Amino acid sequence: MRDWRWGFVGILFLVFVIRTEAWKFSKAQHEHTERISGSAGDVLEDDPVGRLKVFVYELPSKYNKKILQKDPRCLTHMFAAEIYMHRFLLSSPVRTLNPEEADWFYTPVYTTCDLTPNGLPLPFKSPRMMRSAIQLISSNWPYWNRTEGADHFFIVPHDFGACFHYQEEKAIERGILPLLRRATLVQTFGQRNHVCLKDGSITIPPYAPPQKMQAHLIPPNTPRSIFVYFRGLFYDVGNDPEGGYYARGARASVWENFKDNPLFDISTEHPTTYYEDMQRAIFCLCPLGWAPWSPRLVEAVIFGCIPVIIADDIVLPFADAIPWEDIGVFVAEKDVPNLDTILTSIPTEVILRKQRLLANPSMKQAMLFPQPAQSRDAFHQILNGLARKLPHDRSTFLKPGEKILNWTAGPVGDLKPW
Ligand SMILES: *[C@@H]1O[C@H](CO)[C@@H](O)[C@H](O)[C@H]1NC(C)=O
Ligand SMILES: *[C@@H]1O[C@H](CO)[C@@H](O)[C@H](O)[C@H]1NC(C)=O
Repeated sequence: MRDWRWGFVGILFLVFVIRTEAWKFSKAQHEHTERISGSAGDVLEDDPVGRLKVFVYELPSKYNKKILQKDPRCLTHMFAAEIYMHRFLLSSPVRTLNPEEADWFYTPVYTTCDLTPNGLPLPFKSPRMMRSAIQLISSNWPYWNRTEGADHFFIVPHDFGACFHYQEEKAIERGILPLLRRATLVQTFGQRNHVCLKDGSITIPPYAPPQKMQAHLIPPNTPRSIFVYFRGLFYDVGNDPEGGYYARGARASVWENFKDNPLFDISTEHPTTYYEDMQRAIFCLCPLGWAPWSPRLVEAVIFGCIPVIIADDIVLPFADAIPWEDIGVFVAEKDVPNLDTILTSIPTEVILRKQRLLANPSMKQAMLFPQPAQSRDAFHQILNGLARKLPHDRSTFLKPGEKILNWTAGPVGDLKPW
C-alpha cells in the first residue's frame, strides 16, 4: 500500500509556504499580476471595434426568441453563449446594417435550446433547424451563395459542436453538419484531430453565470487549505451502465485511486459552498465527462484555483491568445493513477507563478459573458478571433455558378423540413 502520510505532512508545509508567499504577493498585487501573452502575442487587450464589421441576419422569431420563451432555462445553462452572443451583436458597434460592407455574417439560431424536463439539451432537431435557417438566408439574401458560408460564423456550443450529438461515437459518425463545412464554427468543443473540430474554428468557454459567481467571492487572501478539489460525477450509471465510456474511465480512476487520500477533497455531492471551496483550493480537477470540456475550467479561472486538465488533446478556449500550458496543469488520462505524485512534485514557485497568472483580470474577463458586455470579455475575444482571420483569402469567394456543398448529404432524417 502506498504510504501517503509523509506526503500529507509535506503538503501541510507546502500549503503553509504558499499561504505565506501568497500573502507577500497580495501586498503588491498590482505590480505582481503577470501579463498574459499567448502565441498570438498580448492580444487579450485588443479592441475589435474598427477591425471588423458583422451583419446580423434577421430571422423569424421561431429560430430564436420563441424557443427561448418556451424554456427560459436556456439563459442559464452552459450552452447559453448562443443567446448572449446574439444579444451582444445586436447592439455592438461592430454590427453593420449594410451587408455589402460586412466582413462576417451571423445567423441567430438557438440550436441548443431544446431541453428535457431535467434540463439536458437534446440536439436531435438541431440539424433540421440549422438547415432550415440556412435555406432561408440563402434564398432571401445573395451572400450565402457567394461563399457557401465561408464568411459566415455560427455559434454551436453543443457537446460536440456542429456534430450535434452528445455521445462521442454518434457525433463522430455524423460529422459536422454538411452545410456548415465552409463556415467558421464558434464552439465550446475542442479536441485536436477530431472530426468535430474543423480547422479555423474558434473554441470558446462554456457559459457560467457571472453574477452568481461574483456573489460568492470571498476575501482574496483566504488561505488555500484544500490541496485538490473536485465535485461531480465519477460514474454515469444511467447512461453508461457497463462503465468505461463515461469520461473514458478517467473520472472513475480518480475516484478509485484517491477516494481515501486526504489531499483529495473529492465527492459527487455538490455543496452550497462549492464556489467558496474552489477559492480555498490550490488545484481544481477539470476532467473530461461526456465531452472534454466543462464549466469547471471557467470556475477554476474565476476562483484562482489552478485547473488540472485531464482530457487528452483538448483544445482550450482562445488557445491562440491564452498560454494555458503556463496557467494550468495537464495530466494525461492514462496518468490519473499518479495524480498525487504529479501534483505534489510541482515546485512551489511554479504554483505561485500559475496563481499570479490566474490573478490577471484579463484572464478572468476572457472567460465570461457578462450582461452588459465589458471590454476584454469573451464576446470581445470571439470578435478578436474573427478579426484575426481577416482579410478573407481568395478561396472564400466562389466563381459564378460554382458549388461545393452538397445539400442532400447527411442522414435522411436531417433532410426533413423543420
Ligand atoms: C442560392 O442558390 C440556391 C440553389 O443552390 C437557389 O435556390 C437560391 O435561389 C440562390 N439564392 C439566391 C439569392 O439567388
Ligand atoms: C450528395 O450527397 C448524396 C448523399 O450522400 C449523394 O447521393 C450525391 O451523389 C451527392 N451529390 C454530389 C453532387 O456529390
